[in-house]
Amino acid sequence: MDSLVMALAFLVSMLSTSFPQVSPLKVCPKCGTMEVPPPLSTNSDCGDSSYKVYCNNGVLEFLSAEGMYYRILSIDPCTFKLIIAPPRIRKDLCYSSDLTVGGLRIDENSPFNISTRNTVMLLNCSENLLLSPLNCSSNSLCRLFEEKVSEGSACRNTLCCTFLKDASITSRRIRARVGGCTAYTSVVNMKPDEFPGLWNYGIELQWLPSSLY
Ligand SMILES: *[C@@H]1O[C@H](CO)[C@@H](O)[C@H](O)[C@H]1NC(C)=O
Ligand SMILES: *[C@@H]1O[C@H](CO)[C@@H](O)[C@H](O)[C@H]1NC(C)=O
Ligand SMILES: *[C@@H]1O[C@H](CO)[C@@H](O)[C@H](O)[C@H]1NC(C)=O
Repeated sequence: MDSLVMALAFLVSMLSTSFPQVSPLKVCPKCGTMEVPPPLSTNSDCGDSSYKVYCNNGVLEFLSAEGMYYRILSIDPCTFKLIIAPPRIRKDLCYSSDLTVGGLRIDENSPFNISTRNTVMLLNCSENLLLSPLNCSSNSLCRLFEEKVSEGSACRNTLCCTFLKDASITSRRIRARVGGCTAYTSVVNMKPDEFPGLWNYGIELQWLPSSLY
């Protein structure tokens, strides 16, 4: 197995000798104004194709296992992390735009998963959630999102729950469903004392280092 990986790495380095020696992977062209650092790959002749992302009309996007695209807001190749935009919430109903597909799900075989720096707020939840270890109390941080941020206004006066800070949520899914919680948002590196409008809204994903990198 190891020798196969080494043989592959050698092959890739042979194929990309015209490139700077920084990485054996060919760097993909910019998408709009955004750099696409390796191992991320927007097409088959750059990056590592296991780390596929999509450049749709100049917007770099991540594709979920359910076929939903999420805009990539930032990428940090040094820490193997990227941040995607949470789905939009409707103005009239407390529904996330990915409710129809059950929320965010990342394929099991994908090198990406959801990092522990996210504070996830589940909105318009059913009473069942009260039995969970989540913080669904009346002073839970999700209340501040509903009350102080216009995007959360459709969710006011519904039950909401926040993943407790420091609780590990590393996983490949954030569920949204009728009869569960119909919307959600996420904040990276939550600073509870800041005004909720200024929180860093996003879902941080991390990736396993590429064997070709
Ligand atoms: C909350 O979710 C339920 C389904 O679980 C739905 O019927 C209801 O309309 C939602 N409430 C809002 C304010 O969107
Ligand atoms: C829920 O979160 C709020 C705000 O961070 C905190 O003040 C409260 O103690 C938490 N409640 C529980 C049960 O953890
Ligand atoms: C999530 O990804 C990190 C690094 O990318 C990895 O160390 C960890 O094992 C993964 N966790 C799961 C549950 O797959």
